[in-house]
Amino acid sequence: MRTLNVAMIGTGFMGKAHALAYAGLPAFYWPPPAMPVRKIVVDRTEALAATGRDRFGFEQFSTDWAAVVQDPQIDIVDICTPNDSHAEIAIAAAAAGKHIMCEKPLARSAPEAKRMLDAVAGKNLTHMVAFNYRHTPAVVFARKLIEEGRIGTLLNFHGHYLSDWPADPATPLSWRFQKSVAGSGTIGDIGSHVLDMARYLVGEIEAVNAIVQTYIAERPEQTGEFDKLGSAERRPEGPRRPVDVDDEATFLLRFAGGAVGSIDASRNAYGRGNYLGFELHGTTGSIIFNFERMNELKVFFADDPPELRGFRTIMTGPPHPHGEALWPVAGLGVGYLDVKIVECHGLISAIAEGRQASPNFADGYRIALICDAILASGQRRGWVEVGA
Ligand SMILES: NC(=O)c1ccc[n+]([C@@H]2O[C@H](COP(=O)([O-])OP(=O)(O)OC[C@H]3O[C@@H](n4cnc5c(N)ncnc54)[C@H](O)[C@@H]3O)[C@@H](O)[C@H]2O)c1
Repeated sequence: MRTLNVAMIGTGFMGKAHALAYAGLPAFYWPPPAMPVRKIVVDRTEALAATGRDRFGFEQFSTDWAAVVQDPQIDIVDICTPNDSHAEIAIAAAAAGKHIMCEKPLARSAPEAKRMLDAVAGKNLTHMVAFNYRHTPAVVFARKLIEEGRIGTLLNFHGHYLSDWPADPATPLSWRFQKSVAGSGTIGDIGSHVLDMARYLVGEIEAVNAIVQTYIAERPEQTGEFDKLGSAERRPEGPRRPVDVDDEATFLLRFAGGAVGSIDASRNAYGRGNYLGFELHGTTGSIIFNFERMNELKVFFADDPPELRGFRTIMTGPPHPHGEALWPVAGLGVGYLDVKIVECHGLISAIAEGRQASPNFADGYRIALICDAILASGQRRGWVEVGA
């Protein structure tokens, strides 16, 4: 069986998810399209990198990503670092001819994403950007229903990604609140996931009209150098520093195919943990999805007999996309990690078959253009054409 040696950079939240996905791939998809091998893990300090090796099952560790991407034994460079290092690592990996997995958002801005896309252009390598939520079986099934024409011509898409992990102003200021590292706040961090879903299901987005806010304009410094996503740490009395990214974005969308849409992205939505989803309406039906109930898809078909009309709740399982690979009966449930394994299968299959992955750097660049247009629209207070 062909093996693919992985170098993973970054051992935080996403490092954990990606390492588990490589480990889980052959358990779900047997035989695997190729066998990923967790070869080298990289982090900033020896202690972090060595812990990454022991905890996430890698053979070796390093603190020098630039040397690792040149290592001839490495096939895949997997970028799980904060957004400010994606471009530098990806461009070096492309120059070394490696396949690349990169966490989202692809970059901090569209020009930076374009440099990454240019770096992989014309090279015989597979690249992927980790908009994982589109790989949720219920979402893939929604796309199948749309492609089969079950809900007719698409008219509108209303998406949301509401969260509350930083809703308390005493939540420490991590890299996610710093423009120099993150690029933007809610827009690139969580809005980008819904934009990916909107493009995946409805098609290209050509214009946006946004309201962009920063309600919490300063936060306490975090203790230590590590991110505190989801941490219970609160420092109401600590020294404070300014937040220079958005924490709230609401925007209208105009799709190239004629549909309209809207997306709400918020870090201030108490009670919403990971409330990512959409409501989608067409000329003959509707679909509702909510990641917090990710094993369910609500569908409405206008051609049901009038007395039976209503949303039905489909529980995904073996008959649905990826269902046979995952768990044997509906109701056992898939979770966040299962979706990361499906995503990983998409990457490894594409490499094994010598084709491009989806979504890839071209998608990541397009979403970066949309994110930049949202930021520009928030400043100009009006419609902005994407890429204009
Ligand atoms: N797809 C998703 O659902 C999802 C969820 C969370 C985060 N993300 C994305 O994943 C990326 C990482 O986020 P995270 O939550 O894992 O962050 P994190 O802060 O938890 O972890 C980042 C890791 O990268 C390491 N690192 C930073 N700079 C480095 C460098 N130059 N060399 C080596 N290691 C370095 C840090 O030490 C840390 O271990 C971000 O781009 C983020 O937007 C995606």
